[in-house]
Amino acid sequence: MNRLDGKVALISGAARGIGAETARKMAAAGATVIIGDVLADSLRQTASEISNAGGKAFALALDVTTEAAWAAAVAEATKQFGKLDILVNNAGMFLGKDLMDATMEDWNRLVAVNMTGVWLGTKVCAPALAESGSSSRHGSAIVNLSSVAGIVGSQLDSLYSMTKGGVTLFTKSAALSFAGKGWKIRVNSVHPGVIETDMGAQTFAVRAARAGKDVESARNVAMKAHPIGRLGVAEDIALAIVFLASDDAGFMTGSAMVVDGGLTAQ
Ligand SMILES: NC(=O)c1ccc[n+]([C@@H]2O[C@H](COP(=O)([O-])OP(=O)(O)OC[C@H]3O[C@@H](n4cnc5c(N)ncnc54)[C@H](O)[C@@H]3O)[C@@H](O)[C@H]2O)c1
Repeated sequence: MNRLDGKVALISGAARGIGAETARKMAAAGATVIIGDVLADSLRQTASEISNAGGKAFALALDVTTEAAWAAAVAEATKQFGKLDILVNNAGMFLGKDLMDATMEDWNRLVAVNMTGVWLGTKVCAPALAESGSSSRHGSAIVNLSSVAGIVGSQLDSLYSMTKGGVTLFTKSAALSFAGKGWKIRVNSVHPGVIETDMGAQTFAVRAARAGKDVESARNVAMKAHPIGRLGVAEDIALAIVFLASDDAGFMTGSAMVVDGGLTAQ
């Protein structure tokens, strides 16, 4: 179950957090992982941790906002490993500003990372994914990181929510577009609740500053919003991503998998 033996995966934003854990889990499931990020030192460290644990990992500099960087990443993947089976569009940023305080500069950066990055990754990787998908029973796979904020509104960060809502519907549209072309690329999104990563910590800090409380009590408020009784950890999301990328999810495309401890069930 959930095996990825012989698969080659490219994961963006994999220096830390959900992306790094996804790389670890994919490597443990038998995939060769190519991990890209703008944080060179952490990226190298994540790649060597995976290699030291017996996995196959390859680190490369990737700024998801740049088409040329994506083209270089795919060229490297296909040169080194002969193909590309899985793309995880994980790189993302949280703004943490009220919509009344955000500037055009904030907006342009947020859209570049959270939306342009997902579209460019999909566009540039699609030919290689279609090629590998054509000889695979369940095709190749793209998994996009949206958010609960891409399903319901976010009081904390309206602009982040807007970009993640875009990722939610881009996922469905890309799934339909590829299916219409006869390309065997399944495209699905994952919608995490609040996850304890650097970005999670950033959301606690913003909540605390807005409410005039300390970070620990802001964290508790966030935790109580999750009926399951805890915040998420990167592993919770990585396991869902591995499933969607695997042949076990062979009949899934255009779907939105919520992994949020019941947050949006209320
Ligand atoms: N942590 C949460 O609570 C949460 C909740 C819902 C959705 N998400 C989404 O999950 C994904 C991963 O989040 P995380 O919690 O691991 O965040 P994180 O901040 O810990 O990690 C994000 C990674 O993306 C990288 N990145 C940022 N801009 C980049 C760029 N231009 N090019 C390449 N890499 C870039 C960062 O360097 C970092 O390594 C994001 O898309 C995020 O929006 C996170």
